[in-house]
Amino acid sequence: MSELVVALDYPGADEALSMAGRLRGSGVWVKVGLELFTATGPDLIDRLKDMDFRVFLDMKFFDIPNTVRGAVRSGVRHGVDMLNIHLMGGERMARAAVEGLREGAMETGPRPLLLGVTVLTSMAQEDLSAGFGSLDDTVRQLAVSGHAWGLDGVVCSGHEVAEIKKSCGKSYFCLTPGIRPHVAGDDQRRTMTPGEAVKAGSDFLVVGRPITGAEDPARAAREILEAMRVAE
Ligand code: C5P
Repeated sequence: MSELVVALDYPGADEALSMAGRLRGSGVWVKVGLELFTATGPDLIDRLKDMDFRVFLDMKFFDIPNTVRGAVRSGVRHGVDMLNIHLMGGERMARAAVEGLREGAMETGPRPLLLGVTVLTSMAQEDLSAGFGSLDDTVRQLAVSGHAWGLDGVVCSGHEVAEIKKSCGKSYFCLTPGIRPHVAGDDQRRTMTPGEAVKAGSDFLVVGRPITGAEDPARAAREILEAMRVAE
């Protein structure tokens, strides 16, 4: 069954917690990204966990192996349910992240999910430096590598899910942003509706503004969850 993750893209704790309060009990996960975490620090994660949310810490770690290992371990200690790294950091960094996950989970209990970012969906072929092959091949190769290195899945576009599941198996999770219930005129380009993303096999759908910008966010979330259920 696919899960809905609401991106709390806010500059501070007050706005984020106010939105979380409106979404409480709806069954959605929440995503804490770079902007919010840098503004609030880990206290916010504790508050969201106290509200019974499952939390995706979207920091896309990318550093030397030892640093990433410690960062992942710290995230796990704060009780997050999912976090991510850049797969371009390579095998040693990815395996260090898995080790940090294991170490953190030994202290705190359940092991969260660790996902890998392949190529940012904001990047096009011309943004990849010389030495990389085609963008599609790079995405697939990184996804397959992440699987071999012990990650639980990848962040990818809804259009890449089928290919990745074919190469890595159905139980390798795909988390897809760029979900739009209706045609939207914003900055997302290669979008899918919630139903299309679920049919494509996506396990986690990340939705920000269509929910957080709605007049009634809880209702917008319920409608998307309903569209996901119908498509299962
Ligand atoms: O408001 P919107 O639905 O576009 O929010 C999408 C969220 O997913 C944002 O937090 C954005 O940073 C994130 N994201 C994305 N594309 C990616 C990875 C993450 O839109 N490839």
